[in-house]
Amino acid sequence: MLVTQQPVLKRFWYPVMPMDQLSSDRPQPFQLLGQALALWLDADGHPAAVADQCCHRSAQLSNGIIRNGCVRCPYHGWAYDRDGTCVDVPQFEPSQRIPASYQVPSYKCAERYGYGWVCLDPEPLLPIPYIAEAEDAAHRLIPQFYEPWQCSGLRLMENSFDNAHFSFVHAESFGNQQQPEPVTAELSPLEYGLQFRATIPVVNPPSQRKNLNLDDEMTLRHVVSTWYMPFSRTLKITYPNGLMHLIFTAATPVSDRTSQIVQFCIRNDTEADAKAADIIAFDRQVTGEDKAVLETTNWDTPLDVSAEQHMPSDQPGIIMRRKLTALLKAHGEVEQRLQLEGR
Ligand code: FES
Ligand SMILES: [Fe+2]
Repeated sequence: MLVTQQPVLKRFWYPVMPMDQLSSDRPQPFQLLGQALALWLDADGHPAAVADQCCHRSAQLSNGIIRNGCVRCPYHGWAYDRDGTCVDVPQFEPSQRIPASYQVPSYKCAERYGYGWVCLDPEPLLPIPYIAEAEDAAHRLIPQFYEPWQCSGLRLMENSFDNAHFSFVHAESFGNQQQPEPVTAELSPLEYGLQFRATIPVVNPPSQRKNLNLDDEMTLRHVVSTWYMPFSRTLKITYPNGLMHLIFTAATPVSDRTSQIVQFCIRNDTEADAKAADIIAFDRQVTGEDKAVLETTNWDTPLDVSAEQHMPSDQPGIIMRRKLTALLKAHGEVEQRLQLEGR
């Protein structure tokens, strides 16, 4: 599927940038589903997003500055508010009216979980995923990764629900090489997603023991994973000592080929129990193991289930393909793919 060619994907919210990378002085560029954006904080400190192209002579607004909560073009200084309306033309007399056509597209933009989120369509199909655990003041939220990967969001989503790869991909971290057979998961399709429950025996390597406050060589993960269509998920792991490690990951679609990986975790322990830097280091190892494989997969990932071979543990990925296919169909779209010879 070529994500930039499927308009319905514009109707979802995506996390695009950590709030601490957004400023009220300098706009930042980001590309979402092929759309170039300029992002900044308005006068109230709320994130704002407009198309990154001035309607005068097409200069990049993200190369400009922010003044009075508006983005000012670097070329002739026209200023736009968060609705994309041009509110200042320095070359005009103060009494001169600014034509209504001096306007750039603006997009829905909101803060959640410490990130700026954007929806490119004025009518999102779903709200930003609700994570109840993030509302609990006793929990801590640790930002983990914000980086581009050269893979599709679907590949990362199905990987997150695939418990048959641990013994291979994660042999150096938590994978149990003695037990390549995946455990059986309980799957519950949701209207716009999927829930997966399983109890998974894993290796507890020395580098992870202090993070979990568990000294055993092996441990159990009680896992509840939720897929939020199209490219976000939560993985809630509860360990036998009651420790919760909930990971949120989004593969925000930058282009057909590139996804921006946005990951944070939520824990019910404290910095005194486990250092955030150590937690990130272990998850970095695991995530890096997945990245090395996922970047070798085809980013024009087929939704057509007959295009690849499957085994029983691939059921979540099959459900994802079927749900995405149904979503396209419900919005009058068919899957767009690269036109390759012989396909
Ligand atoms: S190109 Fe932006 S003000 Fe002229
Ligand atoms: Fe993995």
